[in-house]
Amino acid sequence: MRTDYHCHVLPEIDDGAKNTDMSVQMLEMLHGQGVERVTATPHFYAHREKSVRRFLEKRQQSYDKLMSCKNPFGELILGAEVAVEHGISELEGIERLAISGTDLILLEFPYGPYAEWMSEEIYNISCEYHLTPVIAHIHRYIGYYSRSEMEHILKTNAVFQINNEAFGSFREKRFVKALMKSGVPVVFGSDSHNMSGRRPNFDLLAKKAPQECIEASDMMLDKYLKK
Ligand SMILES: [Fe+2]
Repeated sequence: MRTDYHCHVLPEIDDGAKNTDMSVQMLEMLHGQGVERVTATPHFYAHREKSVRRFLEKRQQSYDKLMSCKNPFGELILGAEVAVEHGISELEGIERLAISGTDLILLEFPYGPYAEWMSEEIYNISCEYHLTPVIAHIHRYIGYYSRSEMEHILKTNAVFQINNEAFGSFREKRFVKALMKSGVPVVFGSDSHNMSGRRPNFDLLAKKAPQECIEASDMMLDKYLKK
């Protein structure tokens, strides 16, 4: 089942869809591109939120509002794009931000130089709650991290998420191709935010990525469904 692991399609909750009209248009476009399963992953920044509980209430309200509108999907899978911050692994309820029904949690490294505390936070979340981290758009960090830092991160027991847009950039495509060849688990996402500059782009993925890698990505979610 063609699966989008990362998108900001929920309305009025982050810098993604501005309203339900835009959300529906995004869902229609994803559907038109052959996507059958959508994981909605609004940003979660611990320093901006009152609590995980409050965030989950807001997410549910946004989801209910969207689902009350006619759209091509009967349901979406709910998750979050959790920013890795100091102390995030100790935040109450952090495990509830996992992709619903699975043992996967989407985590986003900060944009800046690498530091070991980031890997420690990720390790602590995965150990404490038996979750497998999905590292969001790993290719975006090639400008920030040294080769050895990147190699260190790629040894993490994690799934690595690639934004489809990486296939449109010479440098990122080269990195992503090497990543796929290395055999680490890889999943794809649109990381779509709107219908303009960051719109759904599974058409690009279908054109540029090896079919077997897309199929492996699609099946990854099933592998991590909670038993
Ligand atoms: Fe994102």
